[in-house]
Amino acid sequence: MNNKDFIFDGCNMTEIAAKYGTPLYVMSESSILKKCQEIKSDFLDKYPNTRAVFASKAFQTLEICRMVVQEGLGLDTVSGGEIYTAHKAGVPMEFLDFHGNNKTLEEIKMAVDYNVGRIVVDNLYELEALQEYAQKVNKKVKILFRITPGVDCHTHKFITTGQLDSKFGIPLENGILKDFIRRALDMENIELMGFHFHVGSQLATNESHLAALNIALDLMKDVKQTLGFETKELNIGGGFGIHYTGDDKTVKVSEFMDPIMNELYAKCDQYQLAVPQITIEPGRWIVGEAGVTLYTVGSIKEIPGIRKYIGVDGGMTDNIRPGLYGAKYQAVLANKMNQASKEKVTIAGKCCESTDILIYDMELPEVESGDTLAVFSTGAYCYSMSSNYNKIPRPAVVMVKDGKDRLIVKRETYEDMISREI
Ligand code: LLP
Repeated sequence: MNNKDFIFDGCNMTEIAAKYGTPLYVMSESSILKKCQEIKSDFLDKYPNTRAVFASKAFQTLEICRMVVQEGLGLDTVSGGEIYTAHKAGVPMEFLDFHGNNKTLEEIKMAVDYNVGRIVVDNLYELEALQEYAQKVNKKVKILFRITPGVDCHTHKFITTGQLDSKFGIPLENGILKDFIRRALDMENIELMGFHFHVGSQLATNESHLAALNIALDLMKDVKQTLGFETKELNIGGGFGIHYTGDDKTVKVSEFMDPIMNELYAKCDQYQLAVPQITIEPGRWIVGEAGVTLYTVGSIKEIPGIRKYIGVDGGMTDNIRPGLYGAKYQAVLANKMNQASKEKVTIAGKCCESTDILIYDMELPEVESGDTLAVFSTGAYCYSMSSNYNKIPRPAVVMVKDGKDRLIVKRETYEDMISREI
């Protein structure tokens, strides 16, 4: 039979697997650009005084930094390493937001030295360290306070961040935040611009955002009346959901953002507040569906009456999400696209860990050793959360677009893995 191959952004994935080897991350440039353009047309161009930043943690390489910045987005960073990468990619530093619940003193200094656009302050320790260093180098640093709005969102508990009992953000209770605001307003080298919240990730609806927005608006009204502080900027975080399996829906920017913006305008009017600049910071939504991971099938193990395990040449080292969150994925045999599914199999990674199962009980055409398995929606939080467990080198990353492919991250070698060992 003549087999049909899986074509992704115009490229034949069986050929790409042969050309670059597996496991391999493949990213579709067209898909990333389309997402950026949707943000532009349905949010940035539609509403004045808005900003969008890409949450680097989802997938950061030099090339992605350059790409999203060219599309008019900024970058959300959470570590010295992410700031460094953005800097090396040539991203103007004023486009950066810097997050983190425990930024080190070195990172704080780096952010100030590099003139990072906004530092999102999470705690008092950081606020004081920032003032001290900014004073020393005679700079004025623009900050937002990250608040904990105390809303629960319906997603995996490991990726919710906005609930009251959270290591992130400043609680609104007991006057803690107001005390921080007073202090910040008194600091000579700090310019408080406003607030930030992030309620969670992989959200199908904007319910939690709307709840958090209302809490933020009440706060803005309160601090204007009591402290005379007028909020200029409000960053409402990321969290737009994507399609992985079944009924998961890819968020539409307009459906998600229009009600938020309408609520914002209405409430600002009602509370007599100037409309602040609104920033969104999606990560997963921009790159998640742009990614496919290619593996080669090796061992096939049938436990009669129980399960058929298909062993692939990667696993939790390139995708920790099934093991860590029970995340679900879909896959196809990239070299047998015209064949109907006929057997139920379980895709096992190659790591010495029982939780290293990529997909349980999925239907595939008859699987043979040497087949290429393509797992979908692996563009976010796979490469960025990859590891060298079992001393397995990280895969390469290939960018594809309209039938053309180019390497953007080289495959790690054994030598790379021991290069810092003494
Ligand atoms: N902004 C802040 C402050 C965040 O903490 C996050 C994600 C984002 C933006 C981007 O969220 P996104 O749009 O990608 O949902 N490793 C987990 C996800 C952790 C997300 C943490 N914060 C996973 O693999 O599902």
